[in-house]
Amino acid sequence: MDAATSPLEDAYKVLNSSILYFKNKPVGTVAACDPEAVAPNYQECFVRDFIPAALVFIMNGETEIIRNFLLTVLDLKSQQKVMEGHQRATGLLPASFRVVENDGVEILQADFGDRAIGRVAPVDSALWWMVLLRAYVIATGDKKLAHSPAVQTGMRQILELYLKESFETSPAMLVPDASFMIDRRMGVYGHPLEIQALFYGMLRTAKELLLPIKENHVLLEMVTKRLQTLRSYVRIYYWLDRDRLNAIHRLKTEEFGHEAVNVLNIYPEIIPDYVDGWLSERSGYLVGNIGAGRMDFRFFSSGNLLSILFGLATNEEGQKIMNLYDEHWDLLIGEMPLKIVYPAEEGERWAWVTGRDPKNVPWSYHNGGNWPCLLWEFTAAAIWTGREDLAHLAVHQAEDRLYKDQWPEYYDGRKGSLIGRRANYYQVWTATSLILSKRLLEEPGSIDSFKAVLFT
Ligand code: GLC
Repeated sequence: MDAATSPLEDAYKVLNSSILYFKNKPVGTVAACDPEAVAPNYQECFVRDFIPAALVFIMNGETEIIRNFLLTVLDLKSQQKVMEGHQRATGLLPASFRVVENDGVEILQADFGDRAIGRVAPVDSALWWMVLLRAYVIATGDKKLAHSPAVQTGMRQILELYLKESFETSPAMLVPDASFMIDRRMGVYGHPLEIQALFYGMLRTAKELLLPIKENHVLLEMVTKRLQTLRSYVRIYYWLDRDRLNAIHRLKTEEFGHEAVNVLNIYPEIIPDYVDGWLSERSGYLVGNIGAGRMDFRFFSSGNLLSILFGLATNEEGQKIMNLYDEHWDLLIGEMPLKIVYPAEEGERWAWVTGRDPKNVPWSYHNGGNWPCLLWEFTAAAIWTGREDLAHLAVHQAEDRLYKDQWPEYYDGRKGSLIGRRANYYQVWTATSLILSKRLLEEPGSIDSFKAVLFT
C-alpha cells in the first residue's frame, strides 16, 4: 500500500482513469480499468454502473459529463437492432455502449443485449436513466434539458413501453430472468423486487418531469394510478415480518373467487427453514419476488435498499430492514459489504435455478457473493433511517481492504472474505461506491442535497 495515498485518493484515481471520451467530450465511465478484465465488454460504459460515478460527479459540481451521458444514451435508441428477426420496442435503452474507430472516425456502438452473454434484456437501463435525469435536473436546475423535445419524446417512448399491458395480473412489472444488475439466469424472472423499486423511482420522475400538455394527459394519468397501485401492492404482498410470517404459516389454500385471502395460492409449506427464527420482532424485509404459488423468500439487498431510498417502503419498514442488517451483520454484511442476495442457492436448487452456471456457484458472484458497489445504497439508506452507526461500521470495514485488494468487483464466501474467483480489479463502481459512502458520512452538509436528488 502506498503510504502517501489514502483509499479515497486511490478511488478517485480509478474514477479519473475510467472516463470515456467521445469526440473529446466525456460521455461516461468504463466498467473496469483492469487491463486483464474477464470479458471485453468491461471496457464499455454500462448505464447501471455509471450511476454511483454520476452521483460523485454531481457532488463535485461536474455535471457536463452527466448531461453528455443522458443525451448520448438517448440518442443510441436509434441503434436498436432487430434480434433474431424480432423488431424490439423503441423505449428500450442499451445496457452499455462503447467508442470504436471506423476508418479513423470515432463512432458509438450500443449493446441492447444483442451482444451480451445470454442475450439478456436490459430492463433496468431506462429506469436508471430516468432516475438520473431527475437527479441531474435537481442538482443543476437545468429544466430546459428535461423539457426539450428530444427528452420529452424519449420519456414518452419509455413510458409507452414500460406501461404497456402485457401479461401482468397485478401492478408489479413482469420481466424475464436476468434483466437488471443480476444479468445471468438466477430465478429472478417474473416480478423481482429490484425492478419494482426502480420502476417506482422512474414513475416518480415521470410525474415530475413530463410536461402537463394535452398529448401527455393519458400517460400522466396512467403514471399517477400505477404509482399508487404499485406502492400498495408491494407494501401488502412483498412485506415480510413476524406477523406476516405467522399469517402465511397459517394460510388457507385453493381459495376460488373474489373473496380469496390467499390470492396467489401460496402454500405455507414453501416457507424455507432459515426464515423461522430469523426475523425478530424488530426486523422485516421485502421478499425477492411474488407470483402464482410463488414467494421467493431470498433477501435481495439492492431491492430493499432502493425501496427505502425511493420511498416505496414505509418509514417503519425502512427501520425494520436496517434492523435486519444489524441483527444478521455476519450474514448480510460479512467481511466485505454487502451480500447481493441471501441465502445462496445450493445443490440441486443451484443446478435448477442457474442452469449449472459455474460463475454463479453458491456464495459467489450473483449467487450470494458480496458486492462493494452496493455500499453506497446501504450508506444512504442507513443515513435516511437514522442508522449512521451501521454505515460507519460498514465503510470502516471496507475501505482499507478495498484499497489493498485493488477495488475488486465482488467477493466470494459465506462471509465475503475471498476476492471473487473471476472478479475484475479496478472495478469502477466499487471505487465510486466507496467515494460516495465516505463523503456522505464525512460531509454532513452533502446529505440534504443528496436526499433531494434521490427523492426523499
Ligand atoms: C456484470 C454484472 C452487471 C454489471 C456488469 C458491468 O455483468 O452482472 O450488473 O453491470 O458486469 O460491471
